[in-house]
Amino acid sequence: MKVYIIGAGPGDPELITVRGARLIERCPVVVYTGSLVPREVVARARPDAKLLDSSGMTLDEIVEVCLEARAHEHDVARVHTGDPSIFGSTAEQLRRLEELGVACEVVPGVSSFTAAAAVIGKELTLPELSQTVIVTRAEGRTLMPEGEKLEDLARHRATMAFFLSITLLRDVTAALTPHYGGDCPVVVVHKATCPDQAIVWGTLADIEGRVREARIASQAMILVGRVLTSRDFANSRLYDPSFTHRFRRGSDRAL
Ligand SMILES: C[S@@+](CC[C@H](N)C(=O)[O-])C[C@H]1O[C@@H](n2cnc3c(N)ncnc32)[C@H](O)[C@@H]1O
Repeated sequence: MKVYIIGAGPGDPELITVRGARLIERCPVVVYTGSLVPREVVARARPDAKLLDSSGMTLDEIVEVCLEARAHEHDVARVHTGDPSIFGSTAEQLRRLEELGVACEVVPGVSSFTAAAAVIGKELTLPELSQTVIVTRAEGRTLMPEGEKLEDLARHRATMAFFLSITLLRDVTAALTPHYGGDCPVVVVHKATCPDQAIVWGTLADIEGRVREARIASQAMILVGRVLTSRDFANSRLYDPSFTHRFRRGSDRAL
């Protein structure tokens, strides 16, 4: 018996891994984050599966469901939004289950920050502009650890992806502007890959007003960085004819 912690992807039901989908189809018990996991993903469950929406449950109750499943030798598909490793609250479930001797396995998913990059058709790392992506959130009720305040992270001027922060957009722009400049591009993607997806482009100086106008106040990814609009970035060395690497001799092509 195993509990499979499965990433359902950002919204489009086709953006789940084949492994995740097959597990949902096979497990007799499916526990899913009802507020965010698409209905179509859960609809893959077998007709006799026990389906439970975890949005009204406590950690103890989720653990209890898994222990009951173990008593019947039933595998559990625990389905989370996006990728389970990013703001998924999966670590506390894994810790409890492992302490109780329940076997667990994590099946990755497409995170909403890469889904947001995909729907705008951009790469988040570009040669000489940014080789780092900071995945973070603004400080709200959840306090940020020492060294991870917005001002600390902004000093790197790397590409940034903000989860759970759309209602704190003003704090984000205020902290980043001194380091990135008011003209730095920002994009807010609401419900990336869902039928009601919305995309708002702007700069650190004007994004807040634009987002307010668009009435976006939840389920949004904020991406910040010069990579978002750059057209004159350098090519990577990977496809440079003179560059030798393990799979291609540069000199062969450079002739
Ligand atoms: C609890 S976190 C879960 C993140 C998830 N584990 C992931 O990898 O995408 C929820 C936050 O993720 C972001 N998010 C989740 N799905 C999204 C989507 N389809 N489009 C934009 N942002 C999304 C929003 O910032 C939202 O507030």
